[in-house]
Amino acid sequence: MGFSNKNYQLLSKIATNDQHGENSPYFDGWKAYDRDPYHPTKNPQGVIQMGLAENQLCFDLVEEWIRNNPQVSICTSEGVDQFKDIAIYQDYHGLPEFRQAVAKFMGRVRDDRVTFDPDRIVMSGGATGANETMIFCLADPGDAFLVPSPYYPAFTRDLGWRTGVQLLPVDCDSSNKFKITKSALEVAYHKAQEANINIKGLIITNPSNPLGTTLDRETLIDLVTFINEKNIHLVCDEIYAATVFRSPRLVSIAQIIEEMDCNRDLIHIVYSLSKDMGFPGFRVGIVYSYNDAVVSCARKMSSFGLVSSQTQHSLASMLSDDEFIDKFLAESSKRLANRYNKFTKGLEQVGISCLNSNAGLFLWMDLHRLLKEETKESEMALWRIIIDEVKLNVSPGSSFHCLEPGWFRVCFANMDDDTVDIALKRIRAFVSRGKDVEAPTRNKPRRMNLRLSFNSRRFEESVMSPHSPIPLSPLVRAWT
Ligand SMILES: Cc1ncc(COP(=O)(O)O)c(C=O)c1O
Repeated sequence: MGFSNKNYQLLSKIATNDQHGENSPYFDGWKAYDRDPYHPTKNPQGVIQMGLAENQLCFDLVEEWIRNNPQVSICTSEGVDQFKDIAIYQDYHGLPEFRQAVAKFMGRVRDDRVTFDPDRIVMSGGATGANETMIFCLADPGDAFLVPSPYYPAFTRDLGWRTGVQLLPVDCDSSNKFKITKSALEVAYHKAQEANINIKGLIITNPSNPLGTTLDRETLIDLVTFINEKNIHLVCDEIYAATVFRSPRLVSIAQIIEEMDCNRDLIHIVYSLSKDMGFPGFRVGIVYSYNDAVVSCARKMSSFGLVSSQTQHSLASMLSDDEFIDKFLAESSKRLANRYNKFTKGLEQVGISCLNSNAGLFLWMDLHRLLKEETKESEMALWRIIIDEVKLNVSPGSSFHCLEPGWFRVCFANMDDDTVDIALKRIRAFVSRGKDVEAPTRNKPRRMNLRLSFNSRRFEESVMSPHSPIPLSPLVRAWT
């Protein structure tokens, strides 16, 4: 559906500006998947969706719990007696039992090393709504937030589109595994000051999307020190808190501020059940602020994005079931670890390395050796081949504002084991000119440039076994 110029004049500046971010390759990849979705029998040559950070590995556990607890839904014969109490208008504070259960769960996924106050839990429509609410509370149009790169592409929409706030990247790179350094923060801050931009805060994701890494204690202390010195806010998006699947464990900002002297009015957490429980469809987002004024304002704003009372009611019971939650969290991290190992090993067999990570629902895959040149354009050319011919929707690093070309985010928890095998076979076949590819090491001169051409029909015929030695593929042609 297009707009004519005439229509544009009829609509608001928000409706007609580009900050919705949907013209990014990140969303283009999703469209390619929608046009031609993979199905094992109905469309085996289709695009496999590896651009969606969904956690589908533990639905069996949740389904079993639901079967054993039919009364938690007000739409079952076991629960219908509560229908009239729950279906009516609810206070925007949320059901008390829901806030208590969420506060307890937030502590649980942080190994019970911190507690959360149910009276500071404010509801929102997913972390998307929670992030926007946060910005509406903290900043005015034209103000800016620093965001370490690479970062979640939809932040442009979530944090900036309707609020009018700008995002300024803090450049991080692979030389130190994308660590956020004090000097990078200072450079970004001073650049903004020179441009007369008012910085209101720093927003971080911990664990990181797209890196799948957690921030270490020293970095977190540096960040809190930095925002205190500048008297700006720190918003910590911790929606992947329970996706940590191997050491080091998560260190939450909630722990750090208990250990150091700082102005707590500047500290805010965004949370959701979309990733940790795998319920993005429920739209449960949480604003948790240590600042009373922010809690009070966010709560009033929550009227625009309340979680349905039916959802609150059911989740209050589920999240309060300690035995279930303990089992779910332990099993979820075990299954994520298995997936991660399966994927990284499969990629290693063809000389593809990934950033060493310990969390998240994705890998940060390094394909820079397959670039014709180390440019964004080459990255996009490679990405087009991967989408159109290899038929995998992975997301290019540039859509995450990554400075270095050649990184791709690959989601691994939104599919079943058989689809993983097909995806790995396709990747292996694609790079099966592996003999010529050295194990990728960034910041080291490349031995060769690979230029790839790919014939999808012949490729499908020749997909290899994951265990077979890597033959030279006739399909991927490489030359220096
Ligand atoms: C870092 C980050 N924040 C927020 C969101 C949005 O989450 P939700 O589905 O809870 O709105 C995502 C989703 O991928 C994300 O990765």
